[in-house]
Amino acid sequence: MSTPMNKRPIGVFDSGLGGLTVLKALMARLPHEDTIYFGDSGRAPYGSKSADTVTKFSLQNARFLLEQQVKMIIIACNTASSRAYDAVSAMAGLPVIEVIGPGARTAALVTRNRRIGVIGTRGTVESQVYPAAIRRCLEGPAEIYQQACPLFVSLAEEGWWDLPVTSDIARIYLEPLLARGIDTLVLGCTHYPLLSNVITATAGPDVRLVNAGGPIASIVAQTLEQMGLKNDSHLPGQHVYYTSDSVEQFTLLGSAFLDEPVEQACRIDIERY
Ligand code: DGL
Repeated sequence: MSTPMNKRPIGVFDSGLGGLTVLKALMARLPHEDTIYFGDSGRAPYGSKSADTVTKFSLQNARFLLEQQVKMIIIACNTASSRAYDAVSAMAGLPVIEVIGPGARTAALVTRNRRIGVIGTRGTVESQVYPAAIRRCLEGPAEIYQQACPLFVSLAEEGWWDLPVTSDIARIYLEPLLARGIDTLVLGCTHYPLLSNVITATAGPDVRLVNAGGPIASIVAQTLEQMGLKNDSHLPGQHVYYTSDSVEQFTLLGSAFLDEPVEQACRIDIERY
């Protein structure tokens, strides 16, 4: 007998560790849901790759998760959400959640001076999805400034979350946005909350950071509820992890970030999918 739909795990994927920032918010909001996480560290970064390549990778990641019998797929990667949401959604045949809308809506809600900065990968910045999504939520004039921060992803994957070199790089990336007088800064890449200490210190107390983890978890909760897919179990959720690269690195950094041991991590050959 197959597992009832609501008892199935939620599938989450990212190009690497970044999606764990979404998973963490999900675990806090939905403690009884099981999850399967795939981090494609072997093929990261996605942010500097073409839309076609990111779409191909995203479809492979989604096929892998579908094979694991998930009930929903969360594209916990802004680059893949901006490039491949439609393709994944059309293929999956179950609810697919993207991560751009929740961050854009939050930015529109919290800004006071309507000057919003967005940092993301080159792919996300080039796609212009954030300015378009923020303008849809914010009536009237608004100034939106974007900055690609490709080195942040390598620093995050390397575990260099809080080093002096990370602060130096953050200063170079953020100065042009800060010079525009932004009061809100969207972390438009799921890797960036791993560097949030450094980004907060660099941006200063007058800039509100938008980490979409919480808002994404709320959308997931709402969608599960509406579609009758919520797991009614009272047991703590089980979390399984897969990576396309070193299990040791994933386990070490993943456990440090989630503040709980990443157990049952396995390496897979994603090119098979
Ligand atoms: N974490 C991803 C994002 O949100 C991608 C980072 C990358 O692989 O370049 O965009």
